[in-house]
Amino acid sequence: MGAADKNSKKPETQYSASTGETKNKGSRQKTLNDLFGNGLKSIYSGESQLLDALPKVAKAVYSEELQDAIQKHLQETKRQVERLEKIFNRLGIDKSSGEKCKVMEMLIEDGNKIIEEYEEGHVRDSALIIAAQKIEHHEIAVYGSLVELADVLGKKQVMDLLDRSLQEEETTDRILTDIAMDVNDDACEMSEEEVYEDA
Ligand SMILES: [Fe+2]
Repeated sequence: MGAADKNSKKPETQYSASTGETKNKGSRQKTLNDLFGNGLKSIYSGESQLLDALPKVAKAVYSEELQDAIQKHLQETKRQVERLEKIFNRLGIDKSSGEKCKVMEMLIEDGNKIIEEYEEGHVRDSALIIAAQKIEHHEIAVYGSLVELADVLGKKQVMDLLDRSLQEEETTDRILTDIAMDVNDDACEMSEEEVYEDA
């Protein structure tokens, strides 16, 4: 295949994990408001996917403490989705016009793979906490950016709503870190692998 053939195979569109949108060749110059709107739609897609995925994760975990934390975050996620819908109404944005967040899709897929590949128990819990914290860190990055954009765009009430969700994600991340300490200890005790003191 010649170089010209290769070039002709190049996709006309390209997905951006940062903005959560697919760029069309020759698209018009975007504004900061566009970036903000697309970010909102992207996290809305992410939260909605998570809402569907979390019940399966809550069912799969062994630790009661972890299960409680996931159930609690499921309820928070419902409120976060409602908060975003409130923001769309306030700003007159069509919430259904966004694309599916592929980053969240991959992160959820990662969790599902763990459920398939690991047996129920402490080690699977450890793996699921890592997967959950990757999700939290993604959400913290997105909400953090959106809070800043809302601030610079002078959308104070929207900023406060987004900041509430950001705080919840940060708290969940800290709770998961705390639970991981116990779960990892249990996983380590259960493990047949030898742990070298000075390793
Ligand atoms: Fe969330």
